[in-house]
Amino acid sequence: MFTAVAVGNPVYDIIKTPFIESLGRVLSGCSVNAALTMSRLGMKGIAIIGCIGHDYEEQYLKEMEKKSVTPIIVKKSRDTTGFKLTYLDFSGNRKLKVLGVSDGIASGDLPQDLLSTPVAIIGPVIGEVGPDVPAAFKRRGAKVFLDPQGLLRRVKKGVVEHYSNPEALEACCESHVVKPNELEAKLLSGVDEPLKAAIKIHRASGAVTALTLAEKGSIIVNNNEAIIVPAYPTYLVDPTGAGDVYLGSLVYYLHMGLSLKDAAAYASAIASIKVENLAGHFSLRTHEVERRASWIKGRIAVKRLIPVG
Ligand SMILES: Nc1ncnc2c1ncn2[C@@H]1O[C@H](COP(=O)(O)OP(=O)(O)OP(=O)(O)O)[C@@H](O)[C@H]1O
Ligand SMILES: [Mg+2]
Repeated sequence: MFTAVAVGNPVYDIIKTPFIESLGRVLSGCSVNAALTMSRLGMKGIAIIGCIGHDYEEQYLKEMEKKSVTPIIVKKSRDTTGFKLTYLDFSGNRKLKVLGVSDGIASGDLPQDLLSTPVAIIGPVIGEVGPDVPAAFKRRGAKVFLDPQGLLRRVKKGVVEHYSNPEALEACCESHVVKPNELEAKLLSGVDEPLKAAIKIHRASGAVTALTLAEKGSIIVNNNEAIIVPAYPTYLVDPTGAGDVYLGSLVYYLHMGLSLKDAAAYASAIASIKVENLAGHFSLRTHEVERRASWIKGRIAVKRLIPVG
């Protein structure tokens, strides 16, 4: 049995930021980045369920073996999912040209014995997972974490387009914790202002809502409380996967029994180390993680939300 399972297709991307450019396609994707982060932090028994094309299958299996994560390929696809990400400015705005899209993963494709894994991270990248997948894990008692990004994206004329998909909110309702970014929160809630958007998503879904705001930090809404978490100020090399790493870290520290506030401080600290590196390729030094997390903890604010009317 596994401790945690991440669902979502692995991705091989080309990344171009103002500061760095990948030579060829590099491994990324929400499920992969979150799972590798948890493994790096010391969690054992992690599996990733996804689909990949023949072209990258061997490379993917080797990369996973090196990182002690078990890959479960449910369908061998014609193509491997991948994007050419071009960052248009210094604040993370990017254009995603589609290089390929693998098959989808329905709840019926999931190995049934894995549905009772204690922790499930649902991290699709582009439409490969629907609300049936978190629902299948939730029914069997897993604690379900969702990054809704892949439910809010589709391909239009060869590039990724974001759209308001009602299935994304349905998937949030089937999850215990959800992590949209600023744009995804707007699409889920119809509200521009981040705190109001997080409150609306939390109240509509019942899920703890961790809304990430890149270099502006994150806001976590649970019950009648909002935890305002700063980002650790650092230099940016590549923001790709910052949200996935934040999610993987949050999962790990909550699983270790930390409070939401303390787990969020570590998630923000580790994501700040990620943005100094290309894609998911970074290493963690305990002393540095502790130093940044302690800096963040000292600056977290907790707001009480008083219901009116
Ligand atoms: N420039 C930055 N400096 C410091 N921390 C950052 C920076 N960018 C992101 N982070 C940290 O990473 C977290 C997640 O970032 P972001 O909101 O960009 O996620 P995302 O858009 O989901 O990313 P992706 O989809 O590429 O994984 C932020 O809440 C913050 O803690
Ligand atoms: Mg994201």
